[in-house]
Amino acid sequence: MNLSPPRGTRDVFPEDLRLRAWLFGHFRQVGRLFGFEEYDAPVVESADLYVRKAGEEIVDQLYVFQDKSGRELALRPEMTPSLARMILQRAGSLPLPVKWFSLPQCWRYERMTRGRTREHYQWNMDIIGVDDVTAEAELLAALVTFFRGVGLTQDNIQIRISNRRLLQAVLAAAGIGDDLLAPVCVLVDKLEKVSRDAVEAELAELGVDAAAIDSVLEVASCNTLEDAAKLAGEGDNGLDEIGRLLDLASQYGIAEWLQFDASLVRGLAYYTGIVFEAKAITGDLHRAICGGGRYDRLLSTFGGKDLPACGFGFGDPVILEILKDLDLLPTLPRGIDDVVFAFEASLRGPAQDVANRLRNAGRSVDLVLEDGKRMKWAFRHADNVGASRIVLLAPDEWAKGVVKVRDLASGKETEVSPADL
Ligand code: HAM
Repeated sequence: MNLSPPRGTRDVFPEDLRLRAWLFGHFRQVGRLFGFEEYDAPVVESADLYVRKAGEEIVDQLYVFQDKSGRELALRPEMTPSLARMILQRAGSLPLPVKWFSLPQCWRYERMTRGRTREHYQWNMDIIGVDDVTAEAELLAALVTFFRGVGLTQDNIQIRISNRRLLQAVLAAAGIGDDLLAPVCVLVDKLEKVSRDAVEAELAELGVDAAAIDSVLEVASCNTLEDAAKLAGEGDNGLDEIGRLLDLASQYGIAEWLQFDASLVRGLAYYTGIVFEAKAITGDLHRAICGGGRYDRLLSTFGGKDLPACGFGFGDPVILEILKDLDLLPTLPRGIDDVVFAFEASLRGPAQDVANRLRNAGRSVDLVLEDGKRMKWAFRHADNVGASRIVLLAPDEWAKGVVKVRDLASGKETEVSPADL
């Protein structure tokens, strides 16, 4: 039998789980610091939830199957549609704004590379009901709080921001309607991976003419607001919003982490305004660490009334690789306080009693369960599990009503009565 897990999935051995718990602890701590509540949803959703027509990669990568009653189900590739579904369920009764976070496992049939897996955990933070970039600023501040918390600095990470309304304005000037915005964004997003010729051919197929293609690609190559403003012309082009977001970011003390970049559009169809993505700028893994944006019109695609919304998703694989590269992953001990060891089988009952007393006092106790082990073995074992003390029950001492306690860091040994442990 092949002992590997299915391709693209990960076994999580205890030492890996300690790291995961550490990482999730940081995610949850930021959620708490920013006043967000945690929620969850099923990993299996109705496949309809992900039916979208803009040609997104995420839809092609869906794990779909039929259950025994013929329902078309999918493993969720992202959390946002589930969140939208839950918000709609309680539409009208939920006090707004909603500030929720989650840590779902998501599944995508990806081409595997370093940091890209077929299942990942994705920290999501979303704000529903705030129609202002104050929400985006708060989300970006949460991201930076996380980065700082794990020891990253603005020298390691850059958060690029843009606004889909910029492309929308360029398309409008070329006479192209809003209905093409989502598929055009999905195609422009591919410029990082696919040749310009291939993207141009697909844009042309959508009905975007050559002149419009030139304008779109020209604006995408801007990296100052001034240059973008010249190309986008007057009117609502989303650049004011970026300016305001950058001002708010200064007040949060996070402006140095941000960079306007008109080529950022993101690959998901539902974004309608500000979009952002963080990347490592040191080391050799330059994949997106997280990404998000505003999606004010997602709810109506599910038949509900729209609410302003924005949020981000942040996967565990890339950040773990980056922290490993930068030597920022902590060494996490097992956290065992005491190993309790009886020298002989007749002391098993008292050893259980001693373990009980310690556990009742809240200490983590590894009680040696095998009889006939030697003292040397017990010390090696205590060392392996990273215990801070070993509590020994030996016949002579027990006859005096005491146990021997050795502090494994200092080597100091004391005799203590079980009641004083
Ligand atoms: P996304 O850009 O598709 O956005 O994914 C967000 C993040 O999830 C990525 O930046 C990456 O960290 C992680 N991720 C995605 N796929 C993989 C994979 N195959 N392996 C490892 N990590 C991965 C969304 O999913 C949006 N729903 C995020 C969002 C929430 N927007 C608003 N609210």
